[in-house]
Amino acid sequence: MHDKLLYIETFGCQMNVNDSERIVSLLADCGYVSTGDPSVADMILLNTCSVRGGAEEKVYNRLANLRIYKRDGKKQIIAVGGCVAQQEGEELLRRLPYVDLVVGTHNLHLLQEMVQSAERGERRSETAFIDKEQRLDLFPSIKGESRLSRFVTVMQGCDNFCSYCIVPYVRGREISRRSSDILEEVRQLADDGVREVILLGQNVNSYGLKGESDFSFAELLCRVAVIDGIERIRFTTSHPKDMSDELISCFGDIAKLSGHIHLPAQSGSDFVLKQMGRGYTRQSYLEKITKLRSVRPEIVVTGDIIVGFPGESDVDFELTLSLMEEVRYIDIFSFVYSPRPGTKAAALNDDVSREVKKSRLDRLMALQRQHTREISQEMIDSVMSVLVEGEGKLPGQVSGKANNGRIVNFPGDVSLIGSFVDVKISKAYPNSFLGER
Ligand code: 5AD
Ligand code: SF4
Repeated sequence: MHDKLLYIETFGCQMNVNDSERIVSLLADCGYVSTGDPSVADMILLNTCSVRGGAEEKVYNRLANLRIYKRDGKKQIIAVGGCVAQQEGEELLRRLPYVDLVVGTHNLHLLQEMVQSAERGERRSETAFIDKEQRLDLFPSIKGESRLSRFVTVMQGCDNFCSYCIVPYVRGREISRRSSDILEEVRQLADDGVREVILLGQNVNSYGLKGESDFSFAELLCRVAVIDGIERIRFTTSHPKDMSDELISCFGDIAKLSGHIHLPAQSGSDFVLKQMGRGYTRQSYLEKITKLRSVRPEIVVTGDIIVGFPGESDVDFELTLSLMEEVRYIDIFSFVYSPRPGTKAAALNDDVSREVKKSRLDRLMALQRQHTREISQEMIDSVMSVLVEGEGKLPGQVSGKANNGRIVNFPGDVSLIGSFVDVKISKAYPNSFLGER
């Protein structure tokens, strides 16, 4: 029997990227191998995101486009996973007769049997939130092909309920994994040749705060750092309110910790931050950045910003621009506010017009482009330690990530893959650097 072919598309955050890796591995056990061509696939799976408005419609449209491959009675399974699946559930089966299975964010453990029933022609949706012990069983990262950099889930879910955000509703309550399990997994990965781990969670720096772990996130980092073979540690995502002094000091004390932090501010206005329910002020956010830079002067900062939150005035928006001037992010993800069903902010009057939202976004993005350019230029002639992960953009080049998370291409042989190389930066592009050994 020939292998069955799986075509998978992933939307949204790194959680979803990680879940997609898990899905590919689970389905490999059911006889599926990946293909990049949906027209030949035996199964099409969309791993979806619902963080921003229009996400559901995007999924419906994408499914409508992909269903053409199922015509002529061809036996093809169409599956939907991720946050839109969690949110819409049975509704997807009702609205779209060609969808076969809907698997929610807590239900990947059922995927294999769901696929088997789909192969027998049954349609099914599973979106129940499961209990804590069952959830913990789902955390271990999958046995994949050996790679140099791997995600390790340390926590999942979110209890913050920022007023605009749907994540707590579609990903469920916050839960931290047992530290002993995390450390055992990292040791195993190191034995398998992994050099870099990315500790993953919706809110990693609230790891263990609910009393499920005897360690804080900072202590966890210290323990991961002493594992032989692991040369670099990154983590994402952090919440500014949980960025403790203890964690900040890790950037001074742990050489293996990457010189990059993603610390979403969302806004530079205290009024808007309050409306968002973020639990910090502009001042306290900036203090954390200052402290981070005092222990690790070369740290690069990225962030997320929302423009056009209900009630955001011109003055509030100017405060966001001035926050950006003070922080000098190397890059940001910027979003236009969109109300999400069931969130607190959805009840507020979405009073910033579309035109104003758009023009604020344009101004913010222009400022960011300028900052990215300036900061990148300043890095020319500096030397970065690059973990070489693969071939570069051009023939004869290899490519990898610097300690600060930026992509660096440089002339070199593929035999360098897997090693750390000091590279002198010669040229800066918007999303990468060119350098030489
Ligand atoms: N509208 C716009 N942006 C949003 N984000 C989350 N919810 C919304 C929303 N309703 C953004 C935030 C978050 C990122 C993942 O998505 O900036 O940090
Ligand atoms: Fe959403 Fe706020 Fe939780 Fe981040 S911290 S996932 S923005 S509710």
